[in-house]
Amino acid sequence: MLSAIQNRQAVRKFTNAPVNSNDIDELINAFQASPCGMHQTDVMKGIVIESPDLCAEIEKATNNACYGAPLLFAIATKKDSNFGEHDASAAAENIMLQATELGYGSVYIMSGAIELNNHPSLLKKLGISNDFQISVIVPVGKSVEQPAHEDRANRYQIIRK
Ligand SMILES: Cc1cc2nc3c(=O)[nH]c(=O)nc-3n(C[C@H](O)[C@H](O)[C@H](O)COP(=O)(O)O)c2cc1C
Repeated sequence: MLSAIQNRQAVRKFTNAPVNSNDIDELINAFQASPCGMHQTDVMKGIVIESPDLCAEIEKATNNACYGAPLLFAIATKKDSNFGEHDASAAAENIMLQATELGYGSVYIMSGAIELNNHPSLLKKLGISNDFQISVIVPVGKSVEQPAHEDRANRYQIIRK
């Protein structure tokens, strides 16, 4: 697990190669194992978009915010939930770690999620009802290149007492 955490890096250049169907199942398993605030399981939904046409439609609507990845794992959360967005972030990390473990690149996308929420007809097409919004999109695919290494050992301030 530590190696998936250390090896995960934001990937923003993907090949066209589709994500293997068994691997998609593993990403879904990782999503399903995500924690949820107060065990409220009905405030978050995963939408796995494999259809190239639908992926292209989302890229167009979001000004290519998802970098042309062959698989988009969108996470929708209930608008009136205090937990939804927190749940979505935890779930996105689960998906990204599993993607890393399986040899795929991924990235946390907030900008595209915000933009997608401005397209109600597309949300409807994705099966999202009016009481839900897209909180995060995790594009997944084979990385074109190894992202530049960044030493993250001291990225954040740590306070130990
Ligand atoms: C809350 C959040 C929002 C983010 N939104 C975007 C985004 O809209 N587009 C993008 O390309 N990357 C986005 N990222 C990815 C960050 O840019 C990336 O995680 C950061 O630069 C650190 O790099 P690393 O993931 O390789 O450690 C987001 C990450 C987080 C946690």
